[in-house]
Amino acid sequence: MAKIAILGYGTVGGGVYDIFNNSSFLKKTGEEIEVAKILDIRDFPDHPQKELFTKDFNDIVNDAEISVVAETMGGLHPAYEFTKSLLEAGKSVTTSNKELVATYGPELLTLAAQKGVRYMFEASVGGGIPVIRPIASCLQANDIERIAGILNGTTNFILSEMIDKGSEFEDALADAQQRGYAERNPAADIEGHDACRKIAILSSMATGYFVDYSNIPTEGICNVSLNDVKYAEKLGSAIKLIGYSQQMPDGTLYACVAPMLVKKSIPLSGVCDVFNAVMVRGNYLGDAMFYGRGAGKEATASAVCADVIDIVKNGAAKCPILWETDKIKMMAPEEKEWSYFVRTSAGKEQINEMFGDVELIDDVVSGEVGFVTSLIKEKDFVQAVNKLGGTYIKVLEA
Ligand code: NDP
Ligand code: HSE
Repeated sequence: MAKIAILGYGTVGGGVYDIFNNSSFLKKTGEEIEVAKILDIRDFPDHPQKELFTKDFNDIVNDAEISVVAETMGGLHPAYEFTKSLLEAGKSVTTSNKELVATYGPELLTLAAQKGVRYMFEASVGGGIPVIRPIASCLQANDIERIAGILNGTTNFILSEMIDKGSEFEDALADAQQRGYAERNPAADIEGHDACRKIAILSSMATGYFVDYSNIPTEGICNVSLNDVKYAEKLGSAIKLIGYSQQMPDGTLYACVAPMLVKKSIPLSGVCDVFNAVMVRGNYLGDAMFYGRGAGKEATASAVCADVIDIVKNGAAKCPILWETDKIKMMAPEEKEWSYFVRTSAGKEQINEMFGDVELIDDVVSGEVGFVTSLIKEKDFVQAVNKLGGTYIKVLEA
């Protein structure tokens, strides 16, 4: 019998409990997995196993029978201190906490390796989608040249509700919160910070160096309007919040999070609702796409439990240090070339003077036009568009 504990009995932690309580993994692992203790600050007097709950972390870290702990409480503190103590005590930890992985991942992975235990975080990116393991193992023969992903379920759900059902932003957000998709502070979702932490984790894995999310320019979906969506449709595209990173020939990394126009010919454009998708481009494989539910109780718990099952089945074998504590050098974002979709009330002559002979869309909003530029460095574009006046969105290259 493998005894495990759960830290944080919320959306994800509750899902982890349900899976281990309702399913037997005896055939897959050779032993039953039992939830022996649950840490939460709330009381659960009506829970059928209320005796499992504790408010004292020491009850878990000092329990020699518990070998694996699922950390699903979220936030940096005390999750960081708890995780460190558990690894130091020789217990493996699995987590859905991307903020913790993006901030302290290399330190915790190194500690786990020193202690001969595992620190696993499949659920930290893309909810239930297998993407961490494929990058860490199946794609090893490749240099990962580019990652482009829809990495936040809440914002993709909101955009889908607004586009498909004409829902108001606030109503769609409230619905996402009610379904358990959103972060405790949903600003992390709608302002892009959650997607930023996830692209930082994926990029760290892809490069082997620490990608500090505070160095990634990040924009959320707050400024996307229904008129932008109408223009996107005219252009045979959809608007998606994209986490993007690219290894540049000089060894630097470019990364950003931003709403982007995605052509219908690119599979990411068809990813709707709470679904996420990550397109990874390897130098030998070309593009591969990982797709599935990016948030929610059962989908996320499925990934946390898979990590627990892996540890129970395969033991706390050598923990790979997936990326170093050294930071990668980031490319100056203003040097990166993009095409941009622009909306402006400026005249044709001025537009042509600045951006060449672009095709103008003049039948979506009266008094303005929309157009797509050719590839242009961000700094040159921003200078030109500031003179022209208007709003803009990046266009994802195929
Ligand atoms: P919830 O807020 O639903 O659950 C967290 C639980 O942990 C709550 O019950 C909370 O209690 C408890 N908790 C918080 N601090 C402590 C503490 N110091 N000691 C004991 N218990 C504590 O969050 P989620 O389940 O949604 O998310 C958990 C983590 O998983 C987060 O890092 C999140 O980003 C990540 N995640 C979430 C997904 C989702 O779809 N929800 C998907 C993928 C990842 P209380 O409510 O009383 O504060
Ligand atoms: N709030 C996150 C999202 C949870 O909506 O994607 C999954 O990481």
